[in-house]
Amino acid sequence: MTAKEQSALDFGADGDRLKKRTVKDGLLITFEGGEGVGKSTQAERLFHKLQSFGIDTIMAQEPGSSDLGNNVRRWIKRANSSSPLAETLLFEAARAQLMFETVRPALDRGKVVVLDRYTDSTLAYQGYARGGDLETITQLNNIATAGFTPHLTVLLDLDPKVSLARVSNEPDLFGTVDGSNVPRIDDEGQRRFEEQPLKFHQNIRKGYLEMSKADSRWCVIKADQAGHRIADAIMKRVRRLLIERDIPESVFKS
Ligand code: TYD
Repeated sequence: MTAKEQSALDFGADGDRLKKRTVKDGLLITFEGGEGVGKSTQAERLFHKLQSFGIDTIMAQEPGSSDLGNNVRRWIKRANSSSPLAETLLFEAARAQLMFETVRPALDRGKVVVLDRYTDSTLAYQGYARGGDLETITQLNNIATAGFTPHLTVLLDLDPKVSLARVSNEPDLFGTVDGSNVPRIDDEGQRRFEEQPLKFHQNIRKGYLEMSKADSRWCVIKADQAGHRIADAIMKRVRRLLIERDIPESVFKS
């Protein structure tokens, strides 16, 4: 979502701030998962649902949602090879900017922030899949975010054999998985991580599942269910967090 679209959601046509519910110290909800698991769709769904309940919510995406982030996104899609560390530093730079420019100010104003990818993506992709040192990535994550941990992380989990078929137009992709025949072209006309071999995506999944066992902030959802079931499971968890933060239950009946 562009800054302009976001501000159109935040303000009425006459520029007056609409009355929306906020929570003390805000709420950061991140979405994680491999390619083609339906993460962005579910993040958007949650964002719109919370907005419809009158809860002050913004949505952002990594890398992106800032000038720097959009440039990193374009660069990442274009570059053929870079060291895991160089790649990590680029994602961290984009993240630091997004935290500074958008996420922290929104949380300070009591908003709910729905974030499509965050620090766990770097651990999963540049760490578990690309072999970067997990300890170093954790330190860099902490530097970029001042150690800010999400209140909830939704992991959409799916076997990459299934999820990659979703992002491909080729029905027989897995007969020949060596990465070379994945046809999806990104918005920017490029593709990158989707082209990696199946093993790369299996390592991403393994990494996410391992991380999810270590911390209660994770909500792991099987992504091979109907979209509305996934959305309901996510909303159930979010609702609980919001009620704990004094949002009245009646809000969710509207
Ligand atoms: P995108 O097209 O947004 O993919 P997705 O819809 O799956 O998020 O491209 C972002 C890519 O960048 C995606 O392949 C994951 C990757 N990525 C990393 O490798 N490390 C990171 O820290 C982040 C935030 C993203």
